[in-house]
Amino acid sequence: MREQPIGVFDSGLGGLTVLQALTDLLPDEDLIYLGDTARYPYGERSLPELETIALAVAGHLVDGGVKLLVVACNSATAAALPALRAAFDVPVVGVIEPGVRAAASASRTGRAVVIATRATVASGIYETTAERLEAGVQLRSVACPGFVELVEAGRTSGPAVTAEVRERLAPLLTARIDTLVLGCTHFPLLARPISEVVGREVTLVSSADETAFEVRDLLDRVGWLREPGARPAARRFLTTGDPVTFARLGGRFLGTPLGAVEPVTIPGLGETPRGARAGGRARGTRTSRAAS
Ligand code: DGL
Repeated sequence: MREQPIGVFDSGLGGLTVLQALTDLLPDEDLIYLGDTARYPYGERSLPELETIALAVAGHLVDGGVKLLVVACNSATAAALPALRAAFDVPVVGVIEPGVRAAASASRTGRAVVIATRATVASGIYETTAERLEAGVQLRSVACPGFVELVEAGRTSGPAVTAEVRERLAPLLTARIDTLVLGCTHFPLLARPISEVVGREVTLVSSADETAFEVRDLLDRVGWLREPGARPAARRFLTTGDPVTFARLGGRFLGTPLGAVEPVTIPGLGETPRGARAGGRARGTRTSRAAS
């Protein structure tokens, strides 16, 4: 099992922020990343629809033999983490608990706002998770529709982007918070304009690093960490969208060429227009791969 790759997925490019943290912390691990660009933005979909999509996309990675799955998407984590854990026998790590922990350790006053997609905000997952973990931080979630589209279009800086970000975040500027949680994995790619708007005294927090630590600890516990330096680690990139655009923007965000991005289709999902109930494999049909 230890030689198998870690699977990571998101609705598109945002999960690359988590992939980068995994690469930095676990340089010996093989990583396979799936950007489900054909169905982004996830955050504008209903939670049941997202659960169906997440099960099918994750199923593609599990069928490919990953040893652990990282749901590098807040919306999919909010909608589907329990269903994914029930459906697959590999360990599944989401980004919400790590995000709450990161917020708790960053905030001095205990007052923080989470900016996220509409789906994540509708789920109330940050508030309930902070309560369940007794994290000692009061979280309020605010939706920022439009931010994901900026990132997927490769628009992450410049005066027009800052103006759009300012318009959306203006209502937050009067709230006395010391921490802003980037509760969507796309948002760290907008960190510069966001920081410019909210001011440097507000700490921006993302779940990427905490998630990578959780993955390392989990693999360490089950003895599935790869031997350091045994062979060079490999990264593969898959997308359900346009591989050329994904390679161009992904390479820009990671600061290194991605190599050939492989096009994939997810069986049963088709184009899955927003609002439609996606098809896909029923829960609990996964065969056992390994004890975790
Ligand atoms: N990056 C994802 C998240 O963390 C989803 C963005 C989207 O497709 O709406 O929520």
